[in-house]
Amino acid sequence: MAKAFSGIQPTGQIQLGNYIGALRNWQPDPGSFYCVVDLHSISAPWDPKELRQNTRSTAALLLALGLGEGSHVFLQSHVHEHAELAWILNCLGRMGELNRMTQFKSKGRGKEDASVGLFTYPLLMASDILLYRVQEVPVGEDQKQHVELTRDIALRFNSRFGPVFTVPEPRIADLGARVMSLRNPLEKMSKSDPDPNSKILLTDSDEVISKKIMTAVTDSGREVAYEPKEKPGVSNLLEIASTLSGEPIEALAARFRDQGYGAFKRGVADIVVEVLRPLRQRVEALTADVSEIDRRLEEGRAAAEREARPMLAEVKEAIGLL
Ligand code: TYM
Repeated sequence: MAKAFSGIQPTGQIQLGNYIGALRNWQPDPGSFYCVVDLHSISAPWDPKELRQNTRSTAALLLALGLGEGSHVFLQSHVHEHAELAWILNCLGRMGELNRMTQFKSKGRGKEDASVGLFTYPLLMASDILLYRVQEVPVGEDQKQHVELTRDIALRFNSRFGPVFTVPEPRIADLGARVMSLRNPLEKMSKSDPDPNSKILLTDSDEVISKKIMTAVTDSGREVAYEPKEKPGVSNLLEIASTLSGEPIEALAARFRDQGYGAFKRGVADIVVEVLRPLRQRVEALTADVSEIDRRLEEGRAAAEREARPMLAEVKEAIGLL
């Protein structure tokens, strides 16, 4: 069983793309760690009150998914080794490779007021992963480049200072690795999209989910078919329905082929509602008891520290810090 590490930012509300591309693929295996990466969230402007609320609700979601039983759930800022290793990796990462990160190019490049943290953010992410000696990093497509950078840094470190780091692999599902916006199927669904109808939140009610799917942008024609280039809107809905129901895309497409977009969207909405409702109810039950969330995060912190502390000590020794 491969050990895994993954993280999610508590920036805004968690959306369906996060669930399908990442959370759904996180397994509660012993030795795996799942982290609410609150320090990453402050690389863009933030409101302290919202950060506190979103951090707890994101942690509640990971616990509701059962990731605190077997595997461990914790907050990045609770384990100071992450920030400390990030400094060391800041001194090994190169300007050129960080400049090539597409996420920075789209969010920060050329912006005078973008934070320095936004630029060095992939090295904090590399620190997260490398502290836990994991083989796998289950992520959506948009994080692949950051995991590849992590591999490059680990290999560079090991060849210069000896075999300290485990070199991880990204684990990206074939289907659902890039869930697209419901308003513009050429852009990915994103927490930070200001249009509420572009994304389904995990906290949305059954009615809101149905309404958003019924008004999703589809394509010209009326045939339901999986053709990501020609029919990006319909193909996105087919991917969402297939990943959540387990029914193969071809079978879904055949079932709805001649029924028209209205019936198809109603079918997709029913699938999404049935999957998200029990999850939302578990999150609501957990959120009612903040002290229980905090207690379980404390357990996660202790487990994470047991791994991170000796790892950082090994790194410091290898690079010549006394
Ligand atoms: P974040 O918080 O933006 O997203 C969390 C996870 O959700 C995936 N994701 C998607 N997958 C499919 N379709 C989408 N539309 C979609 N939107 C988001 C992301 O790929 C991600 O897996 N830098 C990371 C957090 C991080 C991390 C780490 C991840 C920090 N340290 C260490 C892995 C390992 C981020 O901002 O993810």
